[in-house]
Amino acid sequence: MAHVGLVGIGVMGREFALNLAENGHTVSLLDRDIEKSREVVSAGSALKGELIACADEKTFVEGMVAPRSVLVLVPSGGPLDSVIESLTPLLDQGDLIADLGNSYYKETERRVTACEAAGLQFLGMGISGGAEGARNGPSIMAGGSQESWARIKGPLRDAAAKFEGEPCCDWFGPGGAGHFIKMLHNGIEYADMQMIAEAYGIMRDGWGMEAAAIGDVFAGWMDGPLNSYLVEIAAEVARATDPETRKPMLDVILDRAGQKGTGRWSVIEALHLGAPASMMQAAVEARNISADLEGRRESALLFGAAPEGRFDRAQKDQDDALKSALKHLESAMIAAKVCAYTQGFEVLRRASEAFDWSLDLAAIARVWRAGCIIRSVLLDDISAAFEEDVTRKLSHAPKFTELLNDNAEGLKLVVAQSVTGGLETPALYAALSYHNASRTQHSTANMIQGLRDRFGAHRFERVDAHGELVNGPWHER
Ligand code: 3PG
Repeated sequence: MAHVGLVGIGVMGREFALNLAENGHTVSLLDRDIEKSREVVSAGSALKGELIACADEKTFVEGMVAPRSVLVLVPSGGPLDSVIESLTPLLDQGDLIADLGNSYYKETERRVTACEAAGLQFLGMGISGGAEGARNGPSIMAGGSQESWARIKGPLRDAAAKFEGEPCCDWFGPGGAGHFIKMLHNGIEYADMQMIAEAYGIMRDGWGMEAAAIGDVFAGWMDGPLNSYLVEIAAEVARATDPETRKPMLDVILDRAGQKGTGRWSVIEALHLGAPASMMQAAVEARNISADLEGRRESALLFGAAPEGRFDRAQKDQDDALKSALKHLESAMIAAKVCAYTQGFEVLRRASEAFDWSLDLAAIARVWRAGCIIRSVLLDDISAAFEEDVTRKLSHAPKFTELLNDNAEGLKLVVAQSVTGGLETPALYAALSYHNASRTQHSTANMIQGLRDRFGAHRFERVDAHGELVNGPWHER
């Protein structure tokens, strides 16, 4: 009999099934195409746990130890709902369905309610790490009832990535909390990737560097605070050669970015919560604009193509000048990364307050230290910063204040040079703008308040009368 069932033998499902079996779990497999399940059974024949290919829902359910735990790895939305619908009549009261896809957290809340009404338990679980992570250890973020979590956490902790022996796998709160955290993970991932793409653009278009040399710069960053999975694979991508044309791979990849929606959801949710998320927004916008290849070509004909030229050709040839420019770029990336993480965790804090989730920010940072796409050397420091004082904004924790203070000048220089060179660096620009706005003591919101009151009598607070809302003199005329 199987300890756990897994529905959906796509890329992630296949790898996760093998991972569970490697960790000694017997897993029932179900897919519309039984051949896929059979292939996994043969691929995992030498593993500790047994994999069992099931021909239909009935065999699948009957072959599991009760109370049953079913992991579902199918595309979110319709396909997930049909799996739930087909299993519900066959499952017994108290059985558990866990959705490991990238579902929208409000949909997860709806499914929790519907399953509980049918006497079943439901968990919404984000998993990150791609196919490699699913096989060798992903990062897992669960939400739903704690009782359901207690039931399934054993096999999941076994399969999860480990950071210094600790599984990167946890339960964070009721309802859609797990999927909200996974969504935000992807929002930060979007910002991280956009910053990397901008750094690549500065080196390629601003300084005329070749892809392989750019790859070497990324690889060099692995020795400092930018050490992260995404920077590591950026080096690999930049250094790779196309086997067909022998050109750098980056030169044969069309500059039109795709997206599946989690970045966009993160921005929309942040806006609803009133939490600044300008770096994720810049990243989503950049992908949106990149998608309009034809529009960009037409605009380039009308207005001239950006960037308008290399930053400083004379300087480019001087090794020392390039060295110092690269140092500034690394600084800019470090400062911007602190801003991106600060924004990301503030969105999570707002969500926790608004939805009464009591999210443990330190624990979230802990499960992101290994296995997931945004894993980075800074995440251990982030968890420590929140363990020390969870009420404090990340950038106000001494380690991060220092990182930002030491690197903000680089961010300013890089953004200024990009702006004057006509080179688009929206995420870096958003970071600088956020950093500046966040430390402005006397902002211009007094003008906004004056205008709101002038046209809409919305009232404002006076600096000399704390808290009291008053109208300006303009209404008296
Ligand atoms: C994924 O879920 O595969 C990625 O983390 C985000 O996907 P996207 O870049 O296609 O939106």
